[in-house]
Amino acid sequence: MFELAWRGGATEARLHRRRPGSEDLPWGTLDLSRYPGAHALEARKIWSNGVFTEYASAAAFSSLTTAMLACGAPVDLVAMSADIVVDELFHVELSARLTMELGGAVPLAFDLANIAPVTTPGARPLVRAAEIAMTTSCVSESLSVPAMARSRALASEPLIRAVLERLLADEGPHARLGFWFFDWANDELTDGERAHLARLAEDTIEAYAPLWQDVPCESCALPAGLGGHDDAGKDALRAAITTSIASPLARYGIVLDDARIAALVA
Ligand SMILES: [Fe+2]
Ligand SMILES: [Fe+2]
Repeated sequence: MFELAWRGGATEARLHRRRPGSEDLPWGTLDLSRYPGAHALEARKIWSNGVFTEYASAAAFSSLTTAMLACGAPVDLVAMSADIVVDELFHVELSARLTMELGGAVPLAFDLANIAPVTTPGARPLVRAAEIAMTTSCVSESLSVPAMARSRALASEPLIRAVLERLLADEGPHARLGFWFFDWANDELTDGERAHLARLAEDTIEAYAPLWQDVPCESCALPAGLGGHDDAGKDALRAAITTSIASPLARYGIVLDDARIAALVA
């Protein structure tokens, strides 16, 4: 079962020196009595899952950092990746604290031994780094920006809005890092590796497709004010696939299959 530990003391103080401002958020202002019980439960599910995805992002950028070190990527670019790990751990803290204010996490079964991203066995270091940059930054983070922006626009609770605001402020650069990696790495990649990376991007987009393909369900609680979503959010995700992922990747000769993307967006 997914569970977090917190040490406190000097390690907490160090994190908060590096990522200040968490105490300024309006903790303790959530009034759940204003929402139907089903909405509060759905919000707990959304935010419990959010804590996990932030944690998984920390693992992904840690792996990307190591992979970039192994292929001699620019030092300042590697430092940015390592710093994003701390962003994500700070996001874990904020999301977890918010989940507690919503009534606590719902159980989430996951073996943390499998938290690191998987890369192609035997791939050379540059390609390993390119694979993680693609899945983690170019695709996942590029989709998380519009998703989070829509949730923030819908969030009516000051605490939810403030937490989303804080997370969103970091996500833009998280989505840039992968493309900055390709600025550096692209000349070293072969055409075959670029084609492989294009398929990987399509597979990753496909894995996220349920986010915009799920059937609207009238009886499902949509706790919009508590961090939920709506159809406009799904449209924003569809748009991001072209504008934030496919078009910028094409500039590196990493060309996604139009027909496959059209089918996924439909
Ligand atoms: Fe994050
Ligand atoms: Fe992120």
